[in-house]
Amino acid sequence: MTPLITVKDLNVAYHEKPALWHVNMSIQENSRTAIVGPNGAGKSTLIKSIMKLIRPVSGKIEIEGRDARHALKRVAYVPQKGEVNWDFPATVLDVVLMGRYVHKGWIKRPNRKDESIALSALETMKMEGFRNRQISELSGGQKQRVFIARAIAQDADIYIMDEPLQGIDITTEKLIIDIMKQLQQEGKTFIVVHHHLDTVEEYFDHVVILNKTVIAEGTIGSVWNKKNINRAYYEMSGAHD
Ligand SMILES: Nc1ncnc2c1ncn2[C@@H]1O[C@H](COP(=O)(O)OP(=O)(O)OP(=O)(O)O)[C@@H](O)[C@H]1O
Ligand SMILES: [Mg+2]
Repeated sequence: MTPLITVKDLNVAYHEKPALWHVNMSIQENSRTAIVGPNGAGKSTLIKSIMKLIRPVSGKIEIEGRDARHALKRVAYVPQKGEVNWDFPATVLDVVLMGRYVHKGWIKRPNRKDESIALSALETMKMEGFRNRQISELSGGQKQRVFIARAIAQDADIYIMDEPLQGIDITTEKLIIDIMKQLQQEGKTFIVVHHHLDTVEEYFDHVVILNKTVIAEGTIGSVWNKKNINRAYYEMSGAHD
């Protein structure tokens, strides 16, 4: 099967210090793929590269065999908590409506249909009661739920989420996993940076184990084992800093 996303020999550096080298990997369509690896392993760097937010030193990222740039409208991205400053004046509903702009361009105002899609995404995340609240006046976990609602409102085919479960309670965690599994049934693909090794098997069906380069990738059954986890978390830790 042709993969949905292919990363070919990706090399990324910040101020000439390598963050990712020789990354070759692929994401299968309709998978729930976890990206795991220790702090500083380059997980966020990898997904920002897929989103074209970072210019790599070299390498290619393709979606369905073409440069990823052509398909980014089909991708919803939830950045890692703390990477976005949401202290500007906007209501919760405004933020979720941003998910609709990819379908409209920046000039057209959202219409009734967009609003009803946004409200239903807020309902899915059990945040509809907060729709007129300023985003800056929410707790960290509530903000996170709103960002996920924004991704749902975008109605993308591919969801790329950077530690969406960070700082949220267990009820919300289960809710997000249920939604992910439900959207997978509808044909969507998920790429999720995930920090809790004990739930990788329960939440995902594919995994990419990363530490600056790909340690292993594939189905959970084929690569999620002690040997690969140890290689990423212990044998390589600090080796390149
Ligand atoms: N904007 C930046 N400028 C300079 N160095 C950076 C920048 N962003 C990341 N780095 C460095 O690149 C490396 C990879 O960072 P990245 O954020 O991709 O790691 P990560 O796997 O997402 O870590 P975490 O689990 O802490 O989120 C780290 O050593 C980090 O310090
Ligand atoms: Mg990160």
